[in-house]
Amino acid sequence: MKKDLISMEDLTVDEIKDYLRLAHSVEDLPADERYRLLQGKIMAAMFFEPSTRTRLSFESAMHRLGGGVIGFAEKSATSVSKGESFTDTIYTVENYCDIMVIRHPGEGTARLAARVSSIPVINAGDGSNQHPTQTLLDLFTIEKDLGKISGIKVAFVGDLKYSRTVHSLIRALMKFDVTEFILVAPESLRLPKYFMMTDEPNKYHFYETNHLEEAISKCDILYMTRIQRERFPDLLEYEKVKDSYLLTAAMLEEARPHLRVLHPLPRVNEIAYDVDKTKYAGYFPQARNGVIMREAILLKHLGVKI
Ligand code: CP
Repeated sequence: MKKDLISMEDLTVDEIKDYLRLAHSVEDLPADERYRLLQGKIMAAMFFEPSTRTRLSFESAMHRLGGGVIGFAEKSATSVSKGESFTDTIYTVENYCDIMVIRHPGEGTARLAARVSSIPVINAGDGSNQHPTQTLLDLFTIEKDLGKISGIKVAFVGDLKYSRTVHSLIRALMKFDVTEFILVAPESLRLPKYFMMTDEPNKYHFYETNHLEEAISKCDILYMTRIQRERFPDLLEYEKVKDSYLLTAAMLEEARPHLRVLHPLPRVNEIAYDVDKTKYAGYFPQARNGVIMREAILLKHLGVKI
């Protein structure tokens, strides 16, 4: 078992399936049994970047398993703001807890923390790089909603350049033999080509378009993303693309009956509120699945079997 969870690139398909199996088992456990599993353990939630879902679902997961939580929700509340280095922070906090969950704007910071830490480190998002716990809960959601992952057709919409959730998920889906992708993005936010590189170039098909309407009737999962203002080096570029796509209920008339609209959230004007009432809306159950998957992740990395 790997000590840390840093990138989906580090995991084999069998290792990913283990997380999914464990999440299904956690979901089936009565609350009182769950509550005994991590008593006496402490999780540090170290969030150097804003978060609602990832931080609170990890905290909820730890509480549901009977463990304790320490941490911070912004850099300004730590001694990093006084000049302490990131690695000194890790060397310090590892004395106070059993597992660290880290979100940071710097790509590679979770990997650095894992290298210097003697306790497990979970990457809760590092810049535009990876968000593996989001990917695991996305896969769990897809499996629950569609009954399978392999062979499905997935459309990604929005910021495919900077979105760590897309970068993590697309490579994981390729491991599950998902071979057909529709990539909907403005020219300036297209998926970097290296995410499409593989040893089997004839196996995978990436169809790139600017038009959301082209994707809706052709996919099983419509994965919407926010255009992330905070990732743009030049805000004028953000202004040009910020409202590129807005999915409405009327646009879903031609959708496949089993289609699920997913979104890592937060949404900022990509999904109209009238979509929430349709049978296609999967994003709030997806957020709920985050607690279950994060319980599974904590159990696995703290070496607790159920
Ligand atoms: N999906 C996600 O990472 O949401 P938060 O930024 O609210 O944690």
